[in-house]
Amino acid sequence: MRDLLEPVPKLNPTPISRWKPEGKHSFLLQRLAGARPEEPFLDVLHKRECRRKFSPASPARFGELLHLAHSAKSSYINDAGFEVEQRNVISSGALHAIHILFNQPSQPNWYWYDPHTHSAIEVALPRSVLADKARDFFNSSTAATVIWYVADLDLISAKYDNPLSLVWRDAGAVQSAHSLISEHIGLAYCPLGISGMAEAALLSDERQLQGMGLALVGDRII
Ligand SMILES: Cc1cc2nc3c(=O)[nH]c(=O)nc-3n(C[C@H](O)[C@H](O)[C@H](O)COP(=O)(O)O)c2cc1C
Repeated sequence: MRDLLEPVPKLNPTPISRWKPEGKHSFLLQRLAGARPEEPFLDVLHKRECRRKFSPASPARFGELLHLAHSAKSSYINDAGFEVEQRNVISSGALHAIHILFNQPSQPNWYWYDPHTHSAIEVALPRSVLADKARDFFNSSTAATVIWYVADLDLISAKYDNPLSLVWRDAGAVQSAHSLISEHIGLAYCPLGISGMAEAALLSDERQLQGMGLALVGDRII
């Protein structure tokens, strides 16, 4: 079965900017002080596993996960006029077209993560969309934070024809990084077999968005 076409860079792309949702409520995320800088990378690789028992994620650990994966080390306008960034995670065209949304157990709505301000903006999408279903996966996942990986199809389509395989790979790369970072900073993390593909359209009338996977994260129960 072959339903994804080979991506091709457009000859004359028209750059667009990143999607950013409008939302009234926002809050700053925290950082973790002293995130085990001495731990050898090989130890992280060998110890990494999907952990399926969760207590609520400490705000500092959860913020650190998003900061380590998504903060920009450099950004510039490329030859085609797109604003691109180098982050710790690989990304097709350096566009970083995968958005991070999350719902913590106490939050009635989903939040969008802004990597540029390390803050979160509430979006008008209730937790009954996907988050409750995600928490039904495992016994202790009522305490978990749900992460939803959402692709900005308009952004990636501005640069590439047939871009779908790129964003699926981008989303896998982000989830892989989340898995390794979670291991390093002591979080339990597990991707889920649902994508929320269609539900992402509820996030915007103007932008084509597509769900690319969900995951649960939280502090570990030893
Ligand atoms: C795309 C994807 C979807 C997954 N979905 C589920 C899931 O629905 N339920 C689950 O228990 N684990 C899920 N997993 C985790 C895998 O089962 C797990 O990575 C695999 O068993 C290997 O175990 P390890 O990650 O602990 O090494 C998923 C992993 C990936 C990459």
